[in-house]
Amino acid sequence: MADRLKDRIALVFGAGSVGEGWGNGKAAAAAYAREGAKVVCVDLNADAAEATRAIIEGEGGEAIALSADVTDAASIKAAVDKTVETYGRIDILHNNVGMNIAGSVVQATEEDWRKVMDVNLTSIFLTCKAVIPVMEAQGKGAIINISSMAAVLYTGYPYASYYASKAAVNHLTRSIAMDYATKGIRANTIMPGLMDTPHIYKQMAGYYEGDLDRMRDDRASKVPMRRQGSGWDIGWAAVFLASDEAGFITGVELPVDGGQHCMGKA
Ligand SMILES: NC(=O)c1ccc[n+]([C@@H]2O[C@H](COP(=O)([O-])OP(=O)(O)OC[C@H]3O[C@@H](n4cnc5c(N)ncnc54)[C@H](O)[C@@H]3O)[C@@H](O)[C@H]2O)c1
Repeated sequence: MADRLKDRIALVFGAGSVGEGWGNGKAAAAAYAREGAKVVCVDLNADAAEATRAIIEGEGGEAIALSADVTDAASIKAAVDKTVETYGRIDILHNNVGMNIAGSVVQATEEDWRKVMDVNLTSIFLTCKAVIPVMEAQGKGAIINISSMAAVLYTGYPYASYYASKAAVNHLTRSIAMDYATKGIRANTIMPGLMDTPHIYKQMAGYYEGDLDRMRDDRASKVPMRRQGSGWDIGWAAVFLASDEAGFITGVELPVDGGQHCMGKA
């Protein structure tokens, strides 16, 4: 355990993982705890939130697990209220929840489009709406929103709603950063590139007829470093952005992508 975030309170939405291993949100929650933060692990899937909490506790950290739906304002409010009731403040808001439904604008249904916008974008509007007043009263807070390199690159798949929602996350975060720059609240975006997380085995394996070695090799070949990242790469970037070391950094989009953004293509 280190102490870059000693006694900070981190509220992580999407702190579970869709499969065994370390997803971006699960690793971020654990990384915050390893740096001394007390972590509120929130997930739609109560078991996934509890699994992350148990790991943190097993490592000697402190965490609680809550179930909430980031598309539902009342559910978010209950999680925020519980956090404030338990710990009295919120120093870090981490928005990890994101999903994808494939389809060009013609292929996707209106329902698919609205669902992706709700889960990826409106969720961040709602969590920030609930948490920023708490941070404003404290005069301090750090917001980390997880977007994607797909916010700025066409990745080769027909993901119209995903691209649009993640691009909007980037600009929404800039807008929050500017609206609260004088209030001690910083807001930054992390854009993960090609990450080897449980998420991709659910989301991408179909494009490779389930040939997971081919999927891993193909994804790695697109990265200048010739490897995929891990959830920990996102977690440690989030720790930095949440820490006082990043105290003069707000409104940035940080690619964590092995250099892929330099290529200007996915
Ligand atoms: N893995 C990659 O290659 C990659 C690349 C770029 C961006 N991303 C982004 O990273 C984020 C996800 O990463 P991960 O590895 O943690 O994924 P994950 O799917 O393993 O974890 C997301 C968690 O969010 C929870 N969740 C889903 N809907 C929810 C809701 N409505 N309310 C509350 N919780 C909900 C899920 O139960 C899950 O535990 C997304 O924003 C995604 O767009 C991932």
